[in-house]
Amino acid sequence: MYCSEKCKQIDEATFALQIPKDRDFKILQLTDLHLGFGFLSRGRDKLALDAVSRLIEKTKPDMLVLTGDSVFPFLPRSGTMNNGKQAKKLMTFLDGFKIPYTLVFGNHDCEMGSTCDKEELAKLYQQGKYCIFTEGRKNPTGVGNFLIELVDEEGKVLLVLVMLDSNMYGEGGWFFSGFDCIHEDQVDWCMERLAALKEENPDVKAMAFFHMPLPEFKEAYEKMKLGDKSVIYQHGSISEKNEYFGISKYGGTFFDRAVENGVIKWMFCGHDHLNTLSLVYKGIQMTYGMSIDYLGYKGIQKSYIQRGGTLITRKADKAVEVKMVPLGSVVSTRVRGVKKP
Ligand SMILES: [Fe+2]
Ligand SMILES: [Fe+2]
Repeated sequence: MYCSEKCKQIDEATFALQIPKDRDFKILQLTDLHLGFGFLSRGRDKLALDAVSRLIEKTKPDMLVLTGDSVFPFLPRSGTMNNGKQAKKLMTFLDGFKIPYTLVFGNHDCEMGSTCDKEELAKLYQQGKYCIFTEGRKNPTGVGNFLIELVDEEGKVLLVLVMLDSNMYGEGGWFFSGFDCIHEDQVDWCMERLAALKEENPDVKAMAFFHMPLPEFKEAYEKMKLGDKSVIYQHGSISEKNEYFGISKYGGTFFDRAVENGVIKWMFCGHDHLNTLSLVYKGIQMTYGMSIDYLGYKGIQKSYIQRGGTLITRKADKAVEVKMVPLGSVVSTRVRGVKKP
């Protein structure tokens, strides 16, 4: 747990982190590191860790947010299923930067048959010297549903980070059951918390971080391609084969409830390593983080236009800027039917 006079745990699912209100506060979103830390992945792990180091050096962030699939306990690729060992190695690496970091789980952090379940992994991450993480309350589905309130010196909330477990697989519990979604009880919990904050401060805004994209992201993309001017292109592309979105077939109401609640203005996900799109739909900017993966997708070490991080800057004037930080010099902005702004 990050021990600092600037960071306090308020209750089982809430942290307050003091940030300077008179200068930019920079959050670097990193996603899908897919670190193996096994005998089969040594070379590719080194590439991934070097990539993270370079991004941190380049952006000098105040905080890191990892949006899932950080470790990859998949025997054929990593040579190990010990995700506890993987998590410890990742924490040792991240603690070395002396920057607070937080994370959500993806669908691969606790692969079937891996050593630790999510609860055990959560307990490990809570030990990270610079890690802000909690299992959260027992009631809502998932592990690691919590809020980080970014506050000023007087304790006034400037921005809320909503961390959500988008779960793993649907009924049957394995890959072929399709991806799960953010469950209704999680949505209820989140919206209640945000409504209470809005009551105290009607201007409060939040950004949500979770692993799997929402169905509405795909819906917005398709509308945009058909020329719907209400969807506003920001950056990036959909470069997965056949314009694939790894969304849940189980639906979920998170997006609609967020629109109705009105506090969440930004959503950040990962999961589809080649997708880097960012657009604004119904008042919410949805962004696929640039990814790191050198190990998960077959042959991805040779692919580069998707690789990097996403820099989220809260400016002193309260404006928020979301930028791609590519590791290479080429960025894909190819979106069929849409002209670059
Ligand atoms: Fe992934
Ligand atoms: Fe994933």
